[in-house]
Amino acid sequence: MPKVKSRIEDLAIFGGPSAFSDELHVGRPNVGQREAFLERVNDLLDRRWLTNDGPYLKQLEQRISQLVEVRRCIAVCNATVGLEIAIKAAGLAGEVIIPSFTFIATAHALEWQQITPVFCDINPATHNIDPSCVEQLITERTTGIIGVHLWGRPCDVQALQDIAIGNFGNAEVFSFHATKFLNTFEGGAVVTNDDELAAKIRLMRNFGFAGYDIVNSFGTNGKMSEVSAAMGLTSLESLEKFVAANYRNYKEYRQQLAEVPGVSVLAYDQDEKCNYHYIVLEIDEGALGIARDQLDDILWAENVLSRRYFYPGCHRMEPYRTRSAQASLSLPETEKLAARVLCLPTGTAVGSDEISAICDIIKFVADEGCVVKERMLKQPLRHHPLKK
Ligand SMILES: Cc1ncc(COP(=O)(O)O)c(C=O)c1O
Repeated sequence: MPKVKSRIEDLAIFGGPSAFSDELHVGRPNVGQREAFLERVNDLLDRRWLTNDGPYLKQLEQRISQLVEVRRCIAVCNATVGLEIAIKAAGLAGEVIIPSFTFIATAHALEWQQITPVFCDINPATHNIDPSCVEQLITERTTGIIGVHLWGRPCDVQALQDIAIGNFGNAEVFSFHATKFLNTFEGGAVVTNDDELAAKIRLMRNFGFAGYDIVNSFGTNGKMSEVSAAMGLTSLESLEKFVAANYRNYKEYRQQLAEVPGVSVLAYDQDEKCNYHYIVLEIDEGALGIARDQLDDILWAENVLSRRYFYPGCHRMEPYRTRSAQASLSLPETEKLAARVLCLPTGTAVGSDEISAICDIIKFVADEGCVVKERMLKQPLRHHPLKK
């Protein structure tokens, strides 16, 4: 059972025992039916078809196309390579506008091909790229916009499409990394309704091979293996269960933290289809009494490995921060949000007991806010080993 905090000295950051003996992670992988997965692994081993457009890969591509109602799906080894391929196949060059509040891979996938990522601010209500800011960033070198569906919530694709210049084709890239809602260990997929673009991406994924021993275009190795595809198919079979667990957890967090001053749990729009894969808190230091980073340190000491996604924003991270074009860049909403966000563990690995214990720690800290803050500034702290 998680250890309860009744005195300030009970907090692990001040030397008390950690609430949890095992670490609780954000994005602990969801695992579907183990037997179904192992059956597929045995089958692919028997067949000795481990990669290169195998039967499981084809099935996975077909299932994803159906699920997202898109004509073409090309599964890839990870989303970063998927992005690189999609960017190249779409013929992007010069400058591409992206949100700064995203995982760094979005920027790196451009820079990797000598394309300048131009960082855009976000809408604070949705945390997604703000189309009205996009317009101001368009120059004669702009060739594309990459929106990110942050926290699994769609960005305003229609508004971005209305702004978009030229016709470089539309594609969407998914990550199936182990920490994601649907996982294939490592993996991803590019989906598009553009047949020509899909054909190019397919070629690029496999070194440009157009036939058994025919190469006539440039390519890389973006292939997804059969074992990953088997995991993807197995995960797909449990998708509804994953959403149900996430939704149950989300409602519990929302309810238990509803009255805590300075802590708000991101509200998802009930009209949107949502996987509730992230529990996103926004911390208002003034109202809570302690800073977001202090709460993060407190939770880590308790073995709750909360995450400050996507602090401090790509534009304030190297190698982008010191570039001349970015050096004086100010993205007020991104910067404000990056200082406030804290994500908490959820998914099938977390249940009601854990959520109650995590919320109790947060409530305890909120009650004692200023005292805890003062003490953290004065007294030696017992940080989680990874935080030292
Ligand atoms: C917006 C975005 N782009 C790219 C990636 C990279 O995905 P992968 O780890 O599959 O390469 C991620 C993964 O977190 C992401 O969130």
